[in-house]
Amino acid sequence: MTPTPINEWTLQRLLEWTTNHFNEAGSDSSRLDAEVLLAEALQCQRIELYTRFAEVPDAEPLQKFREWVKRRAAGEPVAYLVGHKEFYSLKFKVTPATLVPRPETEHLIVAALEVCKDAEEPIRIIDVGTGSGCIAVTLAKHLDKQYVIAATDISLEALAVARENAQSHEVESRIRFYEGDLLDALPEGSNPVHLIVSNPPYIGRVEVDTVEDTVKDYEPDAALFAGEQGTEIIERLIPQAEKMLLPGGHLVIEASPTTMDRCVEMVNQSGLDFVEVINDYAGLKRILVARQKG
Ligand SMILES: C[S@@+](CC[C@H](N)C(=O)[O-])C[C@H]1O[C@@H](n2cnc3c(N)ncnc32)[C@H](O)[C@@H]1O
Repeated sequence: MTPTPINEWTLQRLLEWTTNHFNEAGSDSSRLDAEVLLAEALQCQRIELYTRFAEVPDAEPLQKFREWVKRRAAGEPVAYLVGHKEFYSLKFKVTPATLVPRPETEHLIVAALEVCKDAEEPIRIIDVGTGSGCIAVTLAKHLDKQYVIAATDISLEALAVARENAQSHEVESRIRFYEGDLLDALPEGSNPVHLIVSNPPYIGRVEVDTVEDTVKDYEPDAALFAGEQGTEIIERLIPQAEKMLLPGGHLVIEASPTTMDRCVEMVNQSGLDFVEVINDYAGLKRILVARQKG
């Protein structure tokens, strides 16, 4: 076997160089980012890179990879570069019109599936602020009961992506998409539901300086910010949810650990009963569960 010349850009060298480059640019997921971009450029699984370390890529994927490396080092999220993101082990298309699904939101799925166990069929669910559709589609893929889901968003562009994700996961016939403000997006006279889920925008303008550039410069403003304190959307959603939930129905929302106590207070001041706050992987208060009386 001919040894690889020392200065050849093998996959291994590319990965090492890029990881260092991303480290210097301040990324905290440098190796993973480098692997995801290289695998996508080569149209292979990330794991395959490890069996192809000595390979020298062709000019075309190499050029694509180099272009992505430049853009990633400048702050662009990897998910927007490759056009997709994994959530709850499912692959979702994402574009700059949608938030990149976060691992924290997987806790919301677990909590939502849990409350569905006791709900009577067919379960009616609303996902408010669906974005890429990751919550609605994941629930649709995992519910083992009869269900219908309505997904709303203020962004038509996001809804188009959510629809595509529903199609690629073959659940489009089970989810209706509506454009508009929170629950006002639903058709008049819509039936009350068993479950309302939402990962609404929850960053306050007052904390904008604490938000990483790679988030605030690239992800949609409407997906991130909710007024000065970050609670504006949740404050409007709670009373709307109260009107739309069936007796015993649940509201499961993701919120910021910094304003979670305030959100619990809002639930306690509403007609809903507070059930629990669930911590995320980092041990931060992240998911709020409330229940309609009855
Ligand atoms: C934090 S993102 C969540 C997206 C997706 N559900 C997820 O978990 O990745 C919030 C979403 O709410 C939408 N949104 C913001 N304000 C809204 C409003 N007033 N009514 C409906 N949707 C809204 C945004 O367009 C965005 O898609």
